[in-house]
Amino acid sequence: MKRVYILNGPNINLVGIREPEIYGSTNYQEMVKELKRYAKSLGLKVTIKATNSESKIIDILQANMNRYDYFILNAAAYTHTSIAIRDTILAIKTPVIEVHLSDTDNREEFRKVNYLRDVCVATFKGKGLDSYKEALDYVKGMTSHDGNNK
Ligand code: DQA
Repeated sequence: MKRVYILNGPNINLVGIREPEIYGSTNYQEMVKELKRYAKSLGLKVTIKATNSESKIIDILQANMNRYDYFILNAAAYTHTSIAIRDTILAIKTPVIEVHLSDTDNREEFRKVNYLRDVCVATFKGKGLDSYKEALDYVKGMTSHDGNNK
């Protein structure tokens, strides 16, 4: 059974409350519940966490790099600022999939700056909760990887 760690960055815990016209009306608890259900239906073992802290994102990636087959990362605003998270993704062997609820490439100019995309194995964005589901489908569809593909 493949193990997936879904890691959410700052303010993702506020979905449902924050800018619902952009991020939808499903709250974080409902989002987690639905993703757990979906992952289970695909036969994936999933852990889901949210943190507002850049250093915690880095700590979690480092501490779990040998325990999971994939990370699905919504680094939120840190996507557009964090060379530190980029360096972590490069340092660990575990593949990281970038996800966003919104389409970051069709919003403000500053969201087009992306320090993570080219070091992630895939990106799913602009589809709300379905961005995460597509990332889980991607994990499910991968038949093999050598864990050293960067
Ligand atoms: C986001 C997009 C980011 O630009 C933004 O800072 C977020 C959420 C998304 O899921 O659409 O906080 O990552």
